[in-house]
Amino acid sequence: MQFGSFALVLLLGAHGVVAQLDVLAKLAGKQYFGSAVDNPALADKPYVRQLTNRLDFSQLTPSNTMKWETIQPQRGVFNFTGGDEIVKLAQRNGQKVRGHTCLWHSQLAPWVEAGKFDNATLHEIIHDHCYKMVRHYRGDVGFDVSWIVSWDVVNEAFEDDGTFRKTVFYNTTGLTYFDTVFRSARAADPKAKLYINDYNLEGLGPKSDAVAALVKDLKARGVPIDGIGVQGHLILGRVPTTIKENFQRFADLGVEVAITELDIRMELPVTPEKLEQQRKDYETVIAACRAVKKCIGVTIWDYTDKYSWVPGWFEGEGAALPWDEDLKKKPAYNGIASGWLPPRRA
Ligand code: G3I
Repeated sequence: MQFGSFALVLLLGAHGVVAQLDVLAKLAGKQYFGSAVDNPALADKPYVRQLTNRLDFSQLTPSNTMKWETIQPQRGVFNFTGGDEIVKLAQRNGQKVRGHTCLWHSQLAPWVEAGKFDNATLHEIIHDHCYKMVRHYRGDVGFDVSWIVSWDVVNEAFEDDGTFRKTVFYNTTGLTYFDTVFRSARAADPKAKLYINDYNLEGLGPKSDAVAALVKDLKARGVPIDGIGVQGHLILGRVPTTIKENFQRFADLGVEVAITELDIRMELPVTPEKLEQQRKDYETVIAACRAVKKCIGVTIWDYTDKYSWVPGWFEGEGAALPWDEDLKKKPAYNGIASGWLPPRRA
């Protein structure tokens, strides 16, 4: 952060104005702070009021409605309704959108596996799916400006031990699906930043090594890839210690880094001690992004515990987000805010 920006934050503080999350991210030189959102929550007015508060969020990611099962439930039948609803909301509020996702083994339309397609046909299907979706959201088709700034082109292609996940795409095409899907996305929207996205990728380890090796190889072969998305589904008190180092080695490959799905879950019930630990954990993660120039932004995986995916997936766990179920800010909010500020000198 420049001295002038820092002085501005101090000035705001001195006047009792709490600088908000996107404001602070921008002052730290980042492009955005954002939140995921799922369509059913758009019926909740107080929820939408905060979601569209641009001082906190200048970016949205649809958490479900740009996935294959929704976008192309049957071969050749495309349904952009849910994705359009979120992009239009973002457009109205001057927020950018991250597209999620062209290719993922989960929430995949059943016909893709059931068809037992051969290599050539699956390549065509992958191209058709990604090209048509990315093209739909590009500026000159359907939307007057391109609001999708980046795409999670491939999601979760690796196992935690760094081996390739044996999906229908891998089993049928080997590694050539990466080439096809990234080239299709680039052809459809040359301006959007194209990412590979995964979880358990925050610190150094076999999985982040494997992603780094793949990105190096794709770039060497001229396959268009611009970024590594680190999801950031973390556990209270267990933030990896090598995040900054890992982000920097990703950046040194010549790509952007973004934290794309941040949340920090805890075992319930919530206690003041756990909330304080969560505040520190959020601060640690945000400070790592702040410290690496090419970490360009952070998205939390929804902003309120009211709509978090965590309780539905991990029994007895929850409270992972910076706003509670009543849409009240938790200490984690201040953790994010202070993570964007330069460290205090001792
Ligand atoms: O669409 C059906 C609906 O018809 C039905 O009535 C309802 C009843 O449970 O289920 C609905 O489907 C749910 C879907 O979300 C849409 O709400 C699924 O059960 C539920 O499993 C699904 O969960 C999503 C999960 O991905 C599935 O893998 C979460 O909302 C979504 O937040 C989560 O997001 C993923 C990212 O895409 C990738 N990274 C991990 C992240 C967390 O799992």
